[in-house]
Amino acid sequence: MKRSKSSRDWLKRHVNDPYVQRSKKEGWRARSAYKLLEIDEKDRFLAPGGVVVDLGSAPGGWTQVVVKKVGAKGTVIAIDLLAMEPVPGSAFLQGDFATGAGLAAVEAALGGTQADVVLSDMAPNLSGIAISDQARSMALAELARDFALDHLKPGGVFLVKVFQGVGYDEFLKSLRGAFDKVVMRKPDASRDESAEQYLLARGPRRFG
Ligand SMILES: C[S@@+](CC[C@H](N)C(=O)[O-])C[C@H]1O[C@@H](n2cnc3c(N)ncnc32)[C@H](O)[C@@H]1O
Repeated sequence: MKRSKSSRDWLKRHVNDPYVQRSKKEGWRARSAYKLLEIDEKDRFLAPGGVVVDLGSAPGGWTQVVVKKVGAKGTVIAIDLLAMEPVPGSAFLQGDFATGAGLAAVEAALGGTQADVVLSDMAPNLSGIAISDQARSMALAELARDFALDHLKPGGVFLVKVFQGVGYDEFLKSLRGAFDKVVMRKPDASRDESAEQYLLARGPRRFG
C-alpha cells in the first residue's frame, strides 16, 4: 500500500529522531521515557520506595523509568486501554480509565494506600477533528486530576500531559486552585511543533 505524504514525512522524522535512536540503544520502549527523565531531573519527585500510578502507560516507557527510580521497595500501578507487555516490578491493568470499572481496578490495586505520584500521559486516539480531539484530551486530564486529588498523599505530585487549546486555561486555573504549586514543563524530548506540554502540580489541598 502506498503511504500518504504526511505518513512518509512522519516516518522519516521518526527514523531520524535522535531520541528514537537513543531509546533503542538504551533499552527504553518509547522516546517518551526521556520526557519523564528530564522532568524528574529538574523536579525530583520519583524516589526509592515511592507509590506511583501511571495512567495511559503503553507501550511502557514511563513505567520503565518509574520502576527504575522507585526500586524494589516501590509500588508501580500502570493502566492503559491497549495491551502492554508488563514491565517487571510493576502491576499492569488493561482497561479504560475513563470508566467506573477502570477506575475501580486502579483503586483496588492501590488497596487503600495513598500515592506519592500520579502520572497521566493519556492521549485519545486522534480523529483529526481538532475541537473534539482537544475536548477528549482535556476530559482525560480532568479525570486524572480528580483521581490525583482523591488518592495523593499530602505533598504528593501530579504530572499530566495537556495540549494548549480550548479548555487549557480553565484546567490550569483548576490545578492552581487545588494544589500548592503548579509549574509548566516542555522537555526537550517533546517535539517543538507539538502543542503538548506537561503540568506538574505538587501538594494537593484538601477541602471540607
Ligand atoms: C502517549 S501514549 C503514553 C506513552 C507512555 N507514557 C510511554 O512512555 O510509553 C498515551 C496512551 O494513553 C492511552 N489512553 C488513552 N485513553 C485512555 C483511557 N481512557 N484509559 C487508559 N489509557 C488511555 C492510550 O492507549 C495510549 O497508549
